[in-house]
Amino acid sequence: MKTNRRNFLRTAAAGIAAVSLADFSAFASTANPIRPPEPERKGKSVMGLACEPLKTVRIGLVGLGMRGLDTLERLMFVEGVEVTAICDVIPERVTAGKKAVTKAKRKEPVGYSNGEEDWKNLCERDDVDLVYSCTPWLWHTPVSVYAMKHGKHAATEVPAAMTIGDCWELVNTAEETRRHCMMLENCCYDFFELNTLNMARKGVFGEIMYGEGAYIHDLRWLKFDRVNGYAGMWRLKYNMTHNGNPYPTHGLGPVAQIMCINRGDRMDYLNSISTNQVGMTRYAEEKFGSLSPDAIQTYALGDMNTTVIHTVNGKTIMIQHDTTSPRPYSRIHMISGTKGMARKWPVEQIALEPKAHQWLKKKDYSKLMKEYEHPLAAKIGKTAKKVGGHGGMDYIMDSRLSYCLRKGLPLDQDVYDAAAWSSVIELSSISVNKRGNSVDMPDFTRGEWKDAKPLGIVTID
Ligand SMILES: NC(=O)c1ccc[n+]([C@@H]2O[C@H](COP(=O)([O-])OP(=O)(O)OC[C@H]3O[C@@H](n4cnc5c(N)ncnc54)[C@H](O)[C@@H]3O)[C@@H](O)[C@H]2O)c1
Repeated sequence: MKTNRRNFLRTAAAGIAAVSLADFSAFASTANPIRPPEPERKGKSVMGLACEPLKTVRIGLVGLGMRGLDTLERLMFVEGVEVTAICDVIPERVTAGKKAVTKAKRKEPVGYSNGEEDWKNLCERDDVDLVYSCTPWLWHTPVSVYAMKHGKHAATEVPAAMTIGDCWELVNTAEETRRHCMMLENCCYDFFELNTLNMARKGVFGEIMYGEGAYIHDLRWLKFDRVNGYAGMWRLKYNMTHNGNPYPTHGLGPVAQIMCINRGDRMDYLNSISTNQVGMTRYAEEKFGSLSPDAIQTYALGDMNTTVIHTVNGKTIMIQHDTTSPRPYSRIHMISGTKGMARKWPVEQIALEPKAHQWLKKKDYSKLMKEYEHPLAAKIGKTAKKVGGHGGMDYIMDSRLSYCLRKGLPLDQDVYDAAAWSSVIELSSISVNKRGNSVDMPDFTRGEWKDAKPLGIVTID
């Protein structure tokens, strides 16, 4: 009886998932094998966009949960920024945010907490230059679009968009408003990733042919924690109805920058496969009992998703996602070229010609890392480690963002990167549903990737 009831409930919930996934099939049928035409450009390209320099970057911060409150505290240490307004649907979080700012001896920001769309009032303020969003995933695009439409630059937590439609909306809005839209891919600013960018630009690895990245992070406890976990359990809810890779950008971003994606090369098509979902159900059964709602619930997200991206210039990138299996954290970060390779996880290692069949010895590795220390790490790395935020990378990212906005420079990650990296979410889901068949990836630059200059070795004076 019990088993039958569970099976019935699982099948019913699977039916709901099937209906929502059916929405993708219309897109899939046009997306593969014929690439759908890019929507007509209404604005002007923002490739290399430079805007008027700001004296101080006045920030309006939306979403003050685990990430947002940390961000707010970190921003108190970042040169050239001021937080003038904050917003969260939970009033106590706004109060805590105000306290964090006054504790740092800064002027108390104006608080917004009047429902799900009060961030619109924050976006409309005259004393906000940059709307910085740390909300759950589905709010990222609406907040960024509204911010740009009200003359503000937008910076959004990852991923910037969850659907291809939203990716285009970000691109079109940035082009029409000529505002920056940066996805805050902090992993591009981690120390090893910056070092390998520096080494790659200096030709140490030769021509880079292949890269790997991942988000392998056992988040089961957080996903199922109704008290201390994600607000309203947004991550678990998304996992109920979406398969593929819902969080590709931590692994993809640094590899894409190194491989000059959108600046000389472009992601052309992908293939994606997933294991069955087992881990979340097992966890819920063990933790809450086999008849608990969380154990009966079906989850569309397979435990491990593997996506392989093929670029126009014939390079490949493998990206994995697993937030369900009990295993150590990894973003892999591996790049392989004609002269050697580097890999960050499980241990930082480099192998180079003429002895590339073995890893560099510790002494030689340290010497090389010192020689190619990235200028950002050399300049602000120590402070970054003191301030913290994923070992310092968050501080480096915010400092570089503030620097570029104050100097009127193009940003390291533009709206085309935000869209291309985020597009893997829906495209991987389509491919998984088609037994891993290839799915074409849109060209969000509308051809401009061919002449765009690769991202340089960025720095701060
Ligand atoms: N880059 C990174 O390393 C990193 C790390 C953690 C989280 N994140 C990202 O940050 C975002 C937030 O994650 P989190 O862990 O802080 O989640 P969380 O659930 O702890 O926080 C989200 C906050 O947004 C608020 N919120 C929800 N809807 C809102 C709305 N309409 N208006 C205003 N506030 C609203 C919630 O009340 C909550 O306080 C996610 O997109 C996540 O992917 C990124």
